[in-house]
Amino acid sequence: MSKREKEIVIGENEARIQKNIIEELATRFQEEYERTGNKKKFYIQTYGCQMNARDSEKLKGILEHIGYIETDNEINADFILYNTCTVRENANQKVYGRVGHLKTLKKSKKDLMIALCGCMMQEDAVIETIKKSYNHVDIIFGTHNIYKLAELIKAKLDTGDMIIDIWKEHKEIVEDLPSIRKHDFKASVNIMYGCNNFCSYCIVPYVRGRERSRNPEDIVNEIKALVDDGVVEIMLLGQNVNSYGQTVDNEITFAGLLKQIEAIEGLERIRFMTSHPKDLSDELIETIGKSTKICSNLHLPLQSGSTRILEKMNRKYTRDQYLDLVMKIKAVRPDIALTTDIIVGFPGETEEDFEETLEVMRAVEYDNAFTFIYSKRTGTPAAKLEEQVPEDIVKDRFNRLLETLHPSVNKKAKEQVGKTVKVLVEELNGQGDGLVTGRLSSNHLVHLKGDKDLIGKIIDVKILEAKNFYLIGEQA
Ligand code: 5AD
Ligand code: SF4
Repeated sequence: MSKREKEIVIGENEARIQKNIIEELATRFQEEYERTGNKKKFYIQTYGCQMNARDSEKLKGILEHIGYIETDNEINADFILYNTCTVRENANQKVYGRVGHLKTLKKSKKDLMIALCGCMMQEDAVIETIKKSYNHVDIIFGTHNIYKLAELIKAKLDTGDMIIDIWKEHKEIVEDLPSIRKHDFKASVNIMYGCNNFCSYCIVPYVRGRERSRNPEDIVNEIKALVDDGVVEIMLLGQNVNSYGQTVDNEITFAGLLKQIEAIEGLERIRFMTSHPKDLSDELIETIGKSTKICSNLHLPLQSGSTRILEKMNRKYTRDQYLDLVMKIKAVRPDIALTTDIIVGFPGETEEDFEETLEVMRAVEYDNAFTFIYSKRTGTPAAKLEEQVPEDIVKDRFNRLLETLHPSVNKKAKEQVGKTVKVLVEELNGQGDGLVTGRLSSNHLVHLKGDKDLIGKIIDVKILEAKNFYLIGEQA
């Protein structure tokens, strides 16, 4: 039996076990509901990236199958779950602050269950701190075993003890458990988990484990089922989607997977993130060029425009290689919207290094960027580097980074004005009556007149005006 088959068999068993526990709890909850007339409510706060957002959909699926209903009011909840992020240190501080506040709520509501999960929980020091200072927490689990939520709840109910279940490494990919989607018409699909890149500043490889790809048939079947259910746009998720396929039995590349997904009838739009420049192959660029479904938006993290710093970051590409990729991708898709991630203040970053980052930004003309101040993460190689950049210099650089970014963001948005483009309408606009909000293939947001019947539809929209954070359009 091959390694993958074995994994799937174990996965199926595990899924069955979990489904049984979900059913057992559902019966208990139903009996309690009949006795009290109260449906138990859950509240989930999700921090961080789209991976965590997707994990939260799975966690919500389990909770709803048990019999909880969702509330967006934390104070009313019987089950509070924070799905945490640890990419930057201040994210950790925020979580400690909120968990601390829950102590009073827990005192007044003794059946309240407080659970913590996600990347932050994979750090030993965090678990120690919680055990010591936040013993009102009921359940703690990590990134590798979210599918076990029902089992952990049951263990808490049966024993009354604090339940801590953190796995250092992932064991199996468990398919086919319930999940709740935020939208009917678009969905995220994990194609791989973990990361093998060990960028020197990043904690993700330590908290999400080694890279492993899902089997292509499972991905394609999941997407087909979503499309049958009304989904027209999918977002393929992985820390480095460009290296997809290295751990499946029949070798397949990300481009190969995209071709299979493109062939799914009824699917209109394909997005993916995140792409690592070092693995953006010619085959992938060609596939993006030829595709009619892959959206005109590529998120290609630069991190730094200085080859010297990129080397220290262990990114495995140079500034010139990055610029070459940008040229190649613009050659096959001239309308592509490029977005990126940039870190300022990496240890040892000089004024010259930083100027090079600004130069690359001016050369590429990004449609948007996530900009980060370097955060020292204990356990990563960069944390041991001594030349930390002083805080005032980092702040000044951060402001100059934004000053360089904004003109290109505005310019790119203005380039949409006058065009008639396809827009997927996503929701009613919170700002005013009779307006809806949708997204262009480029991922730009647009507001236009319309009602709820348009939600989930792809329509032609003429772009009339570019505001700071969104476009204004009208149905063509
Ligand atoms: N400090 C600042 N930003 C970081 N990122 C990852 N680790 C750190 C860190 N230690 C940023 C990178 C990455 C994005 C998801 O978060 O830019 O692409
Ligand atoms: Fe972190 Fe680098 Fe992996 Fe992205 S590719 S998750 S930045 S280690």
